[in-house]
Amino acid sequence: MKLSLFLLSFVALIQSLTIASDSIYCNTTAHCPESMPCCSFTGVCGTGEYCLGSCNPAYSYSIDACLPVPVCKDMSTLFNKYSDKLVNAYSYLGNASEADWTYTGYVMDYEDEESLVLAMPKNTTGTVLSTTRYMWYGKYSIRLKTSHLAGVITAIVLYSQVEDEIDYEFVGTDLDTAQTNFYWQGTLNYSNSANISTTDTFSNFHTYEIDWQEDKTVWSIDGVVGRTLYKNETYNATTGVYRYPQTPSRIQISIWPGGDSSQGQGTIEWAGGAIDWDAEDISDPGYYYMILNEANITCYDPPKGTTKNGTSSYKFVSSDSFLEKDVAIVDANMILKNLGDSGLTNYTSSSSSSSSSAKTSKTTSSKSSNNKSDSSFSTAESQITSSSSINAEQKTKFFQDLSTTANSTGGAVSVLTNNWVSMVIGFIVTYIL
Ligand SMILES: *[C@@H]1O[C@H](CO)[C@@H](O)[C@H](O)[C@H]1NC(C)=O
Ligand SMILES: *[C@@H]1O[C@H](CO)[C@@H](O)[C@H](O)[C@H]1NC(C)=O
Ligand SMILES: *[C@@H]1O[C@H](CO)[C@@H](O)[C@H](O)[C@H]1NC(C)=O
Ligand SMILES: *[C@@H]1O[C@H](CO)[C@@H](O)[C@H](O)[C@H]1NC(C)=O
Ligand SMILES: *[C@@H]1O[C@H](CO)[C@@H](O)[C@H](O)[C@H]1NC(C)=O
Ligand SMILES: *[C@@H]1O[C@H](CO)[C@@H](O)[C@H](O)[C@H]1NC(C)=O
Ligand SMILES: *[C@@H]1O[C@H](CO)[C@@H](O)[C@H](O)[C@H]1NC(C)=O
Ligand SMILES: *[C@@H]1O[C@H](CO)[C@@H](O)[C@H](O)[C@H]1NC(C)=O
Ligand SMILES: *[C@@H]1O[C@H](CO)[C@@H](O)[C@H](O)[C@H]1NC(C)=O
Ligand SMILES: *[C@@H]1O[C@H](CO)[C@@H](O)[C@H](O)[C@H]1NC(C)=O
Ligand SMILES: *[C@@H]1O[C@H](CO)[C@@H](O)[C@H](O)[C@H]1NC(C)=O
Ligand SMILES: *[C@@H]1O[C@H](CO)[C@@H](O)[C@H](O)[C@H]1NC(C)=O
Repeated sequence: MKLSLFLLSFVALIQSLTIASDSIYCNTTAHCPESMPCCSFTGVCGTGEYCLGSCNPAYSYSIDACLPVPVCKDMSTLFNKYSDKLVNAYSYLGNASEADWTYTGYVMDYEDEESLVLAMPKNTTGTVLSTTRYMWYGKYSIRLKTSHLAGVITAIVLYSQVEDEIDYEFVGTDLDTAQTNFYWQGTLNYSNSANISTTDTFSNFHTYEIDWQEDKTVWSIDGVVGRTLYKNETYNATTGVYRYPQTPSRIQISIWPGGDSSQGQGTIEWAGGAIDWDAEDISDPGYYYMILNEANITCYDPPKGTTKNGTSSYKFVSSDSFLEKDVAIVDANMILKNLGDSGLTNYTSSSSSSSSSAKTSKTTSSKSSNNKSDSSFSTAESQITSSSSINAEQKTKFFQDLSTTANSTGGAVSVLTNNWVSMVIGFIVTYIL
């Protein structure tokens, strides 16, 4: 019973926050209808953003509903004055040339430490940064300071479209431990979690690395190996399948409230207890936060024998089992023209009327200022609305699904002025509601 807390991968948490009542849900037995063909990572059907990122082809209308995802690219990101290079995940249409990272939540520059702050103001669900590109084996190395205090979780997650997952998770009440975990196709296994000892993750920058290879995964902190998982240890003799994370995955870095009262009791206990929304951080600096300094990504070759008919994207080409063998590298459209589109949209037929909207997200992300104020997001919103063929109700549902707060009223960040004068206010997601 108590062990149910391990259910709590980052994604499971987000699912539990989903509120919308008239949404169409999708899961292993109930796939999405053709009209809303894409199953988002929150288990809700839709078009547009639902078909990008963590769209799950296994639960969608068909494997062609989700757009293929962009292939890995070696990169090194120093998050110094970086907030203006981030693209809002809600306006991102899939052009990975425009941005290496998307965000939901609250970000701001922290020039004193040449870093980006990922914040979690009072009563919000925090912040998630995601790479726009996927990795199909590779290594990442991320330098950050975690958050702290009861109920506050900091996480680095490698996450695939079919819920393969390799994690670091940091519980705010145990700053000397990095918890590691992995999932295969979202399947719970109580024995997959293991701890690595480290030193005060809140006060010190540490470098967290995952070296994800076909036959093993290695977790290292500051260059010291803390855990090795061999693929051969994950073999299930009954099914003849390795329950090993093996499909293209993107990196997500997040701060979220595992101790919020909306969470299950098991999660709250795992998170170190109930979160105190009146803790000192909430008045000064005005939010819980983690500090992200640098991320390096090195790509490895795809598995031998992978079907290659192109170079630009990873795509599931068989719904047989959603394993490594079912992925091919192809050249295919990865960019939406409208938020009403999906991978099933026939762009060869009369789409000229909507093509002008393809630049929407670029418009909102190309401002030279890193002050992502309310008004700039209002502008983004009206642009999306005018260029989109979906109705407001559908869009609102999407934002509710992934919203940063259980009770979005918007503007939360505008009060976050304090002695961290070097910070520049990031942006607001809740503008939409
Ligand atoms: C899948 O979703 C359908 C429709 O919402 C629901 O009735 C069913 O119980 C779900 N199945 C599982 C295994 O969650
Ligand atoms: C994607 O973005 C890049 C960089 O802004 C741009 O040059 C390119 O035309 C865009 N591609 C599409 C299909 O919109
Ligand atoms: C936060 O939530 C609590 C409990 O639901 C509520 O009383 C409080 O007004 C909320 N505060 C803000 C700033 O939304
Ligand atoms: C990223 O790569 C650069 C260049 O090799 C190196 O100086 C830096 O220490 C690396 N950072 C991390 C977090 O691995
Ligand atoms: C859980 O994973 C371990 C290896 O991490 C494996 O030995 C065990 O058989 C798995 N159990 C189930 C029920 O999948
Ligand atoms: C990891 O450490 C936490 C305490 O921070 C503990 O509750 C948990 O049981 C440990 N997990 C494992 C697998 O040892
Ligand atoms: C798995 O492979 C590793 C490396 O080849 C080897 O050392 C280990 O004994 C193997 N474990 C099992 C359970 O076969
Ligand atoms: C193997 O897979 C079957 C079918 O999914 C599952 O019921 C069983 O628990 C797994 N066993 C182990 C040891 O992983
Ligand atoms: C390879 O991709 C091209 C388009 O890029 C397509 O026309 C062709 O049918 C594909 N071939 C195979 C074997 O899938
Ligand atoms: C896409 O549109 C073109 C032009 O209208 C049409 O010829 C073609 O059959 C359509 N393809 C599909 C798969 O609907
Ligand atoms: C959200 O806030 C409004 C007013 O700020 C309040 O009336 C409503 O009950 C809140 N809803 C939830 C779910 O907390
Ligand atoms: C951001 O811009 C708005 C309007 O352009 C201005 O009122 C506000 O003071 C600016 N905020 C910061 C932190 O620079």
